[in-house]
Amino acid sequence: MLSGDTVCMATVTHQGLQVLYTRQQIADRVAEMGAQITRDLNGEKLVMIGVLKGAAPFLADLARAVQVDATFDFVATSSYGKGQRSSGAVKLIKDLDEPIEGKNVLVVEDILDTGLTLSYLRKLFLQQHPKTLRIAALLDKPSRRLEMIEADYVGFSIPNLFVIGYGMDYAERYRNLPDICLMAPEPPE
Ligand code: IMP
Repeated sequence: MLSGDTVCMATVTHQGLQVLYTRQQIADRVAEMGAQITRDLNGEKLVMIGVLKGAAPFLADLARAVQVDATFDFVATSSYGKGQRSSGAVKLIKDLDEPIEGKNVLVVEDILDTGLTLSYLRKLFLQQHPKTLRIAALLDKPSRRLEMIEADYVGFSIPNLFVIGYGMDYAERYRNLPDICLMAPEPPE
């Protein structure tokens, strides 16, 4: 597994939000991930499957850092709802457009958190017998894991923080922030 830093850089921008990773740090790390994925593919083709909506900016940047013949597909699963707490259940809202049998597949996800989403998707995709199935997660929160699953490529490993920006939302807001920022915790129920 590849892993980045666990640095918590707290500069204040975006109306008082703390920046965890700047756009430059993200760009540098995505370039490294792309180079690693390119090496591992050894010239073979790739299908990149983005998990909507959060992975969209990451997929767009990673795809341009991967120097192979690549196509895109997207799936959508039920998400966190409107707050910071997961309902626990994963439901497929949008399926793949094309079959993946015999193909090199890279699932591209913004955050590997409890692991429920990626465990569900991995099982679903393996039923189609891809040639290879790997996972790229920009962020990993290992302390939150409920399912035994690891990503093959991880941008940054972080503690139990709720983050927004670079595709990641809080109640659908903040996805367009260019940096990854920290969201203040919700008070307990
Ligand atoms: P998991 O199924 O618990 O691994 O959660 C995966 C999904 O939960 C991610 O793709 C995100 O959509 C969402 N999620 C988990 N942690 C965060 C966070 O810190 N900020 C925003 N979304 C999150």
